[in-house]
Amino acid sequence: MMRLLRAALILVPLGLAIFWWITRPDPILAADIAALPADPEKGRAVFFAAGCAGCHAAPEATGEDFLKLAGGRQFPSDFGTFIAPNISPDPNFGIGKWTDAQIVTAIMKGVSPKGAHYYPAFPYGSYAKADPADILSLVAYMRTLPPVAVANQPHKVGFPFNIRRTLGVWKLLFQDEDWVMQDPENELQERGRYLVEALGHCAECHTPRNILGGLEKDSWMTGAPIPGKASGKTPGITPQKLDWTAADIAEYLKSGFTPTFDTAGGEMVTVIESTSRLTDEDRLAIATYIKALP
Ligand code: HEC
Ligand code: HEC
Repeated sequence: MMRLLRAALILVPLGLAIFWWITRPDPILAADIAALPADPEKGRAVFFAAGCAGCHAAPEATGEDFLKLAGGRQFPSDFGTFIAPNISPDPNFGIGKWTDAQIVTAIMKGVSPKGAHYYPAFPYGSYAKADPADILSLVAYMRTLPPVAVANQPHKVGFPFNIRRTLGVWKLLFQDEDWVMQDPENELQERGRYLVEALGHCAECHTPRNILGGLEKDSWMTGAPIPGKASGKTPGITPQKLDWTAADIAEYLKSGFTPTFDTAGGEMVTVIESTSRLTDEDRLAIATYIKALP
């Protein structure tokens, strides 16, 4: 009995110490990004490629309102309901007082200024693959957007998912920066890979997840259930599942029209609110990547 107790006295703190070590946040420091160029005009393109407003603007916002990042949109999931925070440059309600390094860390590492892990409802797992100079330019652009004085709402998430430290384990299991498409055949496809896998986070909806919410990379873009909904499905977009031409896909991302002149529905409407503001070349790059999927 004493031996067991003594073993427990050693093993429990050791276990906790290991848990603490492997779940520690890993921020980006000001010195890491100090030498990078930041160009707000380039950042604007990154902003729309990354679809930030689709989640952080008010639901169904269009036009100028799409640039007011007050938050408030709800994201139901099997783990609870997440609510997008205010990321406008408002100094009190938004992120106006954050340093560039703090914002880049949030986007690429999923770590808050206080060192807490963010929930992967915020697709930092995809943004981690982005070029840090692009993200710094994105931050410069976001500082030009209108400040909005709207307070954040707390997420509706129960135990144990409300303990953010456990997300360190999630990151350890599912977070990697490897490209899914290994060898792009040309520059357009490579650009498309960057836009889809890193910025566009298309897989976050179009790829199924395991029970812990990790993306199943073996079933990349083959379609998935809609989180928090009993029915309905996000369609697969691999060539086997979708027989559209690259031009059809590019047109859909621009106007929302399908080849049979239906209009896009569901979550895709908000995605197209962003992709409609990309250049024709970038939309073609995305379509080229999708046509090259296995
Ligand atoms: C799919 C929806 C979604 C997209 C797309 C998205 N976010 Fe978020 N974001 C969230 C959610 C949900 C949270 C809250 C995460 C948490 O509290 O753990 C969040 C949190 C944040 C935070 C932390 C704010 C705070 O107060 O702590 C920042 C900064 C942020 N997002 C910036 C961005 C930027 C920049 C982009 C585009 C590159 C982006 N987000 C794209 C859903 C999204
Ligand atoms: C927030 C979830 C979400 C994200 C992110 C997302 N999609 Fe979609 N997508 C959907 C849904 C839902 C539909 C079905 C739309 C409908 O029912 O009209 C769809 C439909 C599509 C279709 C048409 C498929 C068909 O059979 O009608 C294409 C092509 C597509 N998405 C490409 C993309 C690309 C490229 C990206 C990344 C830039 C992307 N999607 C990101 C949810 C998403």
